[in-house]
Amino acid sequence: MTVDLLSDAVRIDVQTGSHVSPIWIGDGIVDHAAALLDSQQVGARRFIVSSPAIWRLHGDRIGRALGTAEPILIPDGERFKNLQTAARIYEPLIRAGADRASAIVAVGGGVIGDTAGFAAATYLRGIALAHIPTTLLAQVDSSIGGKVGVNHQLGKNLIGAFHQPAATIVDPLLLHTLPRREFRSGLYEVIKYGMIASRGLFDRVARDTRAIFAREPGVLLPAIIESCRIKADVVSKDERESGLRRILNYGHTVGHALEAVTKYRRFRHGEAIAYGMLAAADLAVARGALADVERQALARLIAQLGPLPPIVDLSIGEVIEAVRRDKKVVAGKLHFVIAIQIGATMTIDDVTEDELKSVLERLGLKR
Ligand SMILES: NC(=O)c1ccc[n+]([C@@H]2O[C@H](COP(=O)([O-])OP(=O)(O)OC[C@H]3O[C@@H](n4cnc5c(N)ncnc54)[C@H](O)[C@@H]3O)[C@@H](O)[C@H]2O)c1
Ligand SMILES: [Zn+2]
Repeated sequence: MTVDLLSDAVRIDVQTGSHVSPIWIGDGIVDHAAALLDSQQVGARRFIVSSPAIWRLHGDRIGRALGTAEPILIPDGERFKNLQTAARIYEPLIRAGADRASAIVAVGGGVIGDTAGFAAATYLRGIALAHIPTTLLAQVDSSIGGKVGVNHQLGKNLIGAFHQPAATIVDPLLLHTLPRREFRSGLYEVIKYGMIASRGLFDRVARDTRAIFAREPGVLLPAIIESCRIKADVVSKDERESGLRRILNYGHTVGHALEAVTKYRRFRHGEAIAYGMLAAADLAVARGALADVERQALARLIAQLGPLPPIVDLSIGEVIEAVRRDKKVVAGKLHFVIAIQIGATMTIDDVTEDELKSVLERLGLKR
């Protein structure tokens, strides 16, 4: 990973094999999108993929910046992240004669980025992809690392590919229109980065919560930059999740299970991860691997961000069932990433069902 300070943008590179995938971050840099993409020779022709809602808010500006014709608009929302929606991207590409030299520019949250990214990975066996993420979650997480994909009726993200973006342009000013709950959802992932890799980031989110919610550039921008740097660093070392990249799943074992048992309707992704992080911290304390004051600091910070949807009506049994079905369970063993202090993790692979049951009980789920 290299970090380069340009005049008005920070550049962080994700390096996977011989492929370099730059992330530019800066307030207002979306206005320079065309020049940034030109500098990486991203696509002789560019096709924007976005959603009607996002395009209504930011289309004028981004359309002008990219100077491209009509965007391809697809519905966003988790229930539209499927092959049928991906197919709605292929058709206009084919009709317009998009070729191997064309690129897709995904403008939106994680749903648009994953779906458009999947279309880019598969159209003509792969064309270039650029991301302009418009949610906090997409800016610090989903637009980095090359995982693209769609859901199947039987499970989330079951169909996908690794397709590193040719470029990612992160403009925090786009977040000013983001509803507070969506913003918070992304913030839990920022806290995750703090938990796995940076005490400083964790402390700053705790101290500057109000300024971050107000989206004050002086505090929000550095938090986004540090989050992107952590993810870029991890992905650069382990693109295919054979080891290190698993630490990015901190809080996701229980988090994904909570999302699954509520059919992806109750929680925003980050909210489920917040519970998952609390569960992982509790497990770590129970094992004597994490000091209880550290767990309390996490619980306080999560409480400080606002209320989470209730979990009292969810049964421990069904959540454990969902954990078992999760693709992170390898050969019957339950992998768990735990923090051993704020900013450092370890992976354990011998978590028993009984242990998990007690954790979920203490988290507040019903027996
Ligand atoms: N590929 C990865 O590595 C990765 C990582 C994490 C999550 N994901 C995926 O990301 C998805 C969740 O992404 P998300 O949280 O961004 O949700 P999302 O894409 O559903 O966006 C949330 C909502 O915010 C709206 N929105 C987006 N930008 C806006 C803006 N600037 N102003 C106002 N409204 C705006 C959208 O229209 C949508 O209604 C999940 O499907 C998850 O699986 C992927
Ligand atoms: Zn996540």
